[in-house]
Amino acid sequence: MKINVFKNEDEVLHGLANYIVETASASISTNGQFSIALSGGNSPKKLYELLASSSYKGKIDWSKVHFFFGDERYVPHSDPQSNYLMAKKAILEPLELSFKQIFPIDTSLSPDDAAKAYTKDINLYFAGMEPRFDLVLLGLGDNSHTASLFPHTPVLHDKTASIKAVYLEDQKVYRITMTAPLINLAHHVAFLVYGEGKAVAVHHIIEDKTDIEEYPAQLIKPQSGDLQWFLDTGAAAQLKRK
Ligand code: 6PG
Repeated sequence: MKINVFKNEDEVLHGLANYIVETASASISTNGQFSIALSGGNSPKKLYELLASSSYKGKIDWSKVHFFFGDERYVPHSDPQSNYLMAKKAILEPLELSFKQIFPIDTSLSPDDAAKAYTKDINLYFAGMEPRFDLVLLGLGDNSHTASLFPHTPVLHDKTASIKAVYLEDQKVYRITMTAPLINLAHHVAFLVYGEGKAVAVHHIIEDKTDIEEYPAQLIKPQSGDLQWFLDTGAAAQLKRK
């Protein structure tokens, strides 16, 4: 595991954008393609806009990149809460990609059917081979969740590398999420976490005692891939080792 700490938000976004350029270019030159699972929420929006900007978009052969989602809110793709809509506006539309390169989660189905259909899409993409994404991007909630792996939810104990529908009792909403075993198959996993509000959660995940129920992001331990954290000084403030 590598912990990268940057002075501020702008530097952490450039640091991760550079890392994505490196991993994408290596994967494309080796395998002719790059599969990336996007994270949702607020933190990655500026990252996606940076990657689609004139200073970055020429650095990757985007025609070889396939976009998936680590999780999705169970809302229509037109809903402001939709991770797909956020990514569509921030990077997918600006890069003028073919629809064949983009694999949204179909939230027009029931939660369970959406999860089953996405699992099928992923298995088809990997042609029945082990579904090992080249890069999975993750965020971290201030309650130590990642993707839609929330504290005290049954999906934390799921041992299959797949996609599951989860019901969040406190928020009265469904989410669709990659399970930890699926994320842990990835060649590269990168957390993007910035802001002081995340410092306690970052400490819980990186340095605190193991407590998966309370700190679900502790589940993220790639089997053979590399795990990197991209933090600003605010998010790293509670770390003893940096
Ligand atoms: C989501 C994300 C989720 C997110 C964290 C952090 O769908 O919300 O996948 O896991 O990464 O909640 O969100 P912020 O970046 O908005 O703090």
